[in-house]
Amino acid sequence: MEKIHLLPRNTPLVGEIHVPGDKSITHRAIILGSLAKGITKVTNFLNAEDCWRTIQTFQSLGITIEQQHSTLTIRGKGKCALKEPSIPLYFGNSGTTARLLLGILSGLPFFTTMYGDSSLNNRPMQRIVQPLKQMGACIDGRSHSQHLPLAVRGGKLRGIHYTLPVNSAQVKSAILLAGLFAEGTTTVIEKVETRNHTENMLRTFGADITVERHGCIKISNKKDLEARHIDIPGDISSAAYFIAAAAIFPGSNLIIKNVGLNETRTGILDVLKQMGASIMIRDKKCMNGECFGNINVKYSNLKGTIIEGNIVPRLIDEIPIIALIATQAEGSTIIRDASELRVKETDRIKAIVNMLLNLGANIKETDDGMIIYGKTSLTGGYVQSYADHRIAMTAAIASFVADEDIVIDDISAVDVSYPGFFQTLYQIAPTA
Ligand code: S3P
Repeated sequence: MEKIHLLPRNTPLVGEIHVPGDKSITHRAIILGSLAKGITKVTNFLNAEDCWRTIQTFQSLGITIEQQHSTLTIRGKGKCALKEPSIPLYFGNSGTTARLLLGILSGLPFFTTMYGDSSLNNRPMQRIVQPLKQMGACIDGRSHSQHLPLAVRGGKLRGIHYTLPVNSAQVKSAILLAGLFAEGTTTVIEKVETRNHTENMLRTFGADITVERHGCIKISNKKDLEARHIDIPGDISSAAYFIAAAAIFPGSNLIIKNVGLNETRTGILDVLKQMGASIMIRDKKCMNGECFGNINVKYSNLKGTIIEGNIVPRLIDEIPIIALIATQAEGSTIIRDASELRVKETDRIKAIVNMLLNLGANIKETDDGMIIYGKTSLTGGYVQSYADHRIAMTAAIASFVADEDIVIDDISAVDVSYPGFFQTLYQIAPTA
């Protein structure tokens, strides 16, 4: 438990920063590099706890993965060369590792057991287990396979035609990865587009995948994956904290370099523009289906907005920091259709509402979101991070608009996605 005491800040954010590599893309590069034949290099990988859970999992499955500074070298031997692990696989806090790996392990001819930390062990797994069982997977575990620990006896799979009942990239990805091992074609239909990094990376590694209109994705086991060099752009979900700080602190003018700008992830930029923020994108480039560029954000007066429907999956991880931004906008902000937040690392609707209430905000919890009435000054005080990285970082950014000190009970969770978060914060905006 690492407690932190933050003073009110009095310097605007001015200058240029880099944020670490994208978490979702790093997981997928490690996964596909481990299934491909040959040497895959992953540069600017996210060197954080969640990604190490994926690296260590593939090391336990017999893959050599070496780290040198911010580069990973993965010596893949082809997807059928993975070996039965002699120990249970530990996924820590990482939902992406757990769910994507379940798809892969279902198609491999050996036995695995797996578990996570207390948060992950209570997150829903039935949404993955059910379609995988339809493909022929043999999975059993706690509470009728709804929760980790789970055991998988991998084997033959057959392709299915599956319409996603939840808007989840993890569910989509687990089925597509299982499709790499299945006989016939696997088709996934998504009604609302979720992050598409798995599709982009499967295409880059040479898989037989097609993405048709109306969210219809097809994959088969026809082609072997080939090793690649993957350069990971900065994570927009990490950039979001500094974008927010600059947008709400008077006088700020910040450039965040080389940030991923995949349209399935940029909902926060659209919402901020709608709220009246000054956001400019410069030097945009695209490679392997992933776009990236520099984001320039300046302070401006913000107004409330409504966030609902198809945009929600494009900003699902940014809702805690958007709620903080909304406390500094004139008028009300309504967030709905976001009940998925209740099954993240913690119940993020409860966590963020409690935190902002403790800091004096005017905010109300609803079943599938929240309503924030702005603009209110924040008081400071003692807040809980609920051992959730995104709640801890949101609390730290609240110190930009709080009148008094903020004490966060435990900040160790930031290591899950952004170990250097506080260094960047102090570098760009020291306290008086
Ligand atoms: C992720 C997908 C999202 C997101 C999570 C990372 C991914 O989860 O919240 O942080 O890398 O696929 P869901 O698929 O459950 O919405």
